[in-house]
Amino acid sequence: MPKYTPYVTHVVDPVGVDTSIEPRPMEMGSDQSRESVVAKTSGKPLVDFEGKTNPYIDYQSIDILLSLQHPRSEGYDEMCFIVMGQIKEMIFRGLHFELKNAQMQIREDNLGNAMQILERAIAYTKYLADTWNVLSTISTEGFSEFRNNLGTASGQLSFMYRHVEFVLGNKSKRLAAAHKNVSHVWPEIDKALHSQSLYDDVIALLNRRGLKIDGAMLNRDWSEPYKANDSVELAWLGIYKGASLDNDLYTLGEKLTSLDENFSIYRWRHFLTVQKIIGYKPGTGGSAGVGWLQQVTGHRFFPELWSIRTNL
Ligand code: HEM
Repeated sequence: MPKYTPYVTHVVDPVGVDTSIEPRPMEMGSDQSRESVVAKTSGKPLVDFEGKTNPYIDYQSIDILLSLQHPRSEGYDEMCFIVMGQIKEMIFRGLHFELKNAQMQIREDNLGNAMQILERAIAYTKYLADTWNVLSTISTEGFSEFRNNLGTASGQLSFMYRHVEFVLGNKSKRLAAAHKNVSHVWPEIDKALHSQSLYDDVIALLNRRGLKIDGAMLNRDWSEPYKANDSVELAWLGIYKGASLDNDLYTLGEKLTSLDENFSIYRWRHFLTVQKIIGYKPGTGGSAGVGWLQQVTGHRFFPELWSIRTNL
C-alpha cells in the first residue's frame, strides 16, 4: 500500500456514545405501524428522530462498534488489519453460534434443522476464507510498520476462535490455558474444553441409529483432542457404501466434510498470506510463525470422513 502517514478518518465523537453493552430500549414495529409511517412520509425515508440517536444506531449499538478502530502506528495498513481482525472475530462469533445450535439439534435428533444450520456454517466458513483476499493486500513493508505495536498480541489468543475450534473438537488444554487469567472469558472456555464437541454428538447419533460404535467413544474425556477411531470409520463406511440423497446420515456426512474442507481452505489461506507477509519470521504470539501455521493445515476435524474415501 502507499507509503505515507494516512489520514485517519474519525466518524464518531466518543463523548456522544452510550457505552452500555446492554441492548438499548427500542419501540417495536408492526405491519400496521409501517403502513401509517409510510402514509405520513409519502414513501420517502424517515429523517427526523427524537432524542440523541436513531433506531438503526440503537438496534446494534453501531456507534460503539464504530468507535473501536484505533490504529496505534502511522502505518497505512494498520486500519485494514484492525477492521478485518474485528470482522473476523464477528464471523467466528456467528459461526460458533451456528455450530453450537447444530450440535444441540443433533443431540435432539432434529437432523433436518441441523443440516439447514450447517449449510449456513459452511457459508460462514467460506466467507472467513475470503477475508484473506483483503488481508493479503497488506505488504511486507506495510505490516512491518505496525507489527511492533502488536507486542505479543496474536490471533492465537482469540478466545472466539478457540471456541470455534473446541466446538469442532480440536481441543487443547495448552491453548485454552492462555485465557485462564481472564476471568470474564475463562469459565466459558473451560466449559467448552470439557464439553462434547459437535462431532462427539454426531457419533452418539450414529450409535442411536444402531451403528456399532465403541463404548469408549461415547463417554470419553472430552477435553482430549478427537482421535480417529476404527468403529466410527466403519460406521461412516457403511453409510457411504449405501449412499443416497434420502439417507440423512449420508447427507450429514457430506455437510460435515464440506465444513471441514472449507475450514482447511481458511487455514491454508492464513498460512499462505502469512508466508507472503512475514516470510519465515517468528510469530508475535511466540510460535515459529509460518511453520506452525503450515502444520495446522494438516489437521482435520472429522478424520474418518476423509479416510473412508480411500475405501469407497
Ligand atoms: C495479516 C496478517 C497476519 C499475520 C502475519 C498473522 C500471523 C500469524 C501467525 C504467525 C500465527 C501463529 C501464532 C503466532 O503468532 O506465533 C497466527 C495465528 C493465528 N492468527 Fe494470524 N496473522 C495475521 C492475521 C490474522 C487475523 C486478521 C486474524 C483474525 C482474527 C488472525 C487469526 C489468527 C488465529 C485465530 C491464529 C491461531 C490459529 C490456530 O490456533 O490454529 N490472524 N497468525
